[in-house]
Amino acid sequence: MKNLIIRLEEEKDYRAVEELTREAFWNVYKPGADEHYFVHKMRNHPDFIPELAFVLEKDGKIIGNIMYTKAWIEDENGERKEILSFGPLCVAPEYQRQKLGKMLIEHSFDVARKMGYDVNINFGNPGNYVSRGFVSCKKKNISFVTPGNFPTALLVCELVPNALDGRKWMYIPSTAADCCEDTAAVELFDKTFMPKEKKWMPSQEEFYIYSHSSVVR
Ligand SMILES: CC(C)(COP(=O)(O)OP(=O)(O)OC[C@H]1O[C@@H](n2cnc3c(N)ncnc32)[C@H](O)[C@@H]1OP(=O)(O)O)[C@@H](O)C(=O)NCCC(=O)NCCS
Repeated sequence: MKNLIIRLEEEKDYRAVEELTREAFWNVYKPGADEHYFVHKMRNHPDFIPELAFVLEKDGKIIGNIMYTKAWIEDENGERKEILSFGPLCVAPEYQRQKLGKMLIEHSFDVARKMGYDVNINFGNPGNYVSRGFVSCKKKNISFVTPGNFPTALLVCELVPNALDGRKWMYIPSTAADCCEDTAAVELFDKTFMPKEKKWMPSQEEFYIYSHSSVVR
């Protein structure tokens, strides 16, 4: 694809990125979406990493973006390691499945490596990420909430090979996404955009299955 530029997000892009996020996530994981509100709020959260907030532009129009927060893993002795967690990541619906998501991940990982990060962990649909080197958290001994709980959707990518040494870890996400629990605030924010129909889509059931299951064997 021609005329593609990946660059850091600037303040003038904020609304366009929120519009894009709303379009890309609308009805995918629930009727409607809250990811555009997450984007709106996360930029002011202390865990947000502006050096890794990238937009993908084609002919001057933003058609994709990726944003990161800090997260942590903690071993059994309480030793903490700072890691990365991306999300939201999105590509405009009409440009999906053309490797643009992959491009955003790879570009941001390159920059992240230079910043000294060596591990990224995030929740996601495994189908979007397993061909990009992401593996189940169970393979890297990283539990969530309780030891030995390995959520199906918790995916680990080592930015540097063997950055994880086989220790047992617990994943500690940023609290940045907690803002979406305030559904009244999400609704109020959504009203500042063009009305859009909320409806059921099969991807919501797929998301339910992934987000309510764990890898046990
Ligand atoms: C997920 C998303 C960012 C992927 O970006 P993309 O440019 O469409 O994806 P890519 O072309 O780089 O492909 C990545 C992988 O995702 C899978 N994939 C992408 N779009 C898919 C779709 N619509 N349905 C099923 N699988 C899909 C493919 O398996 C692909 O792997 P492959 O290269 O081995 O074929 C994009 O589809 C999107 O914005 N989706 C809506 C928002 C979202 O779900 N964001 C991620 C939150 S977990």
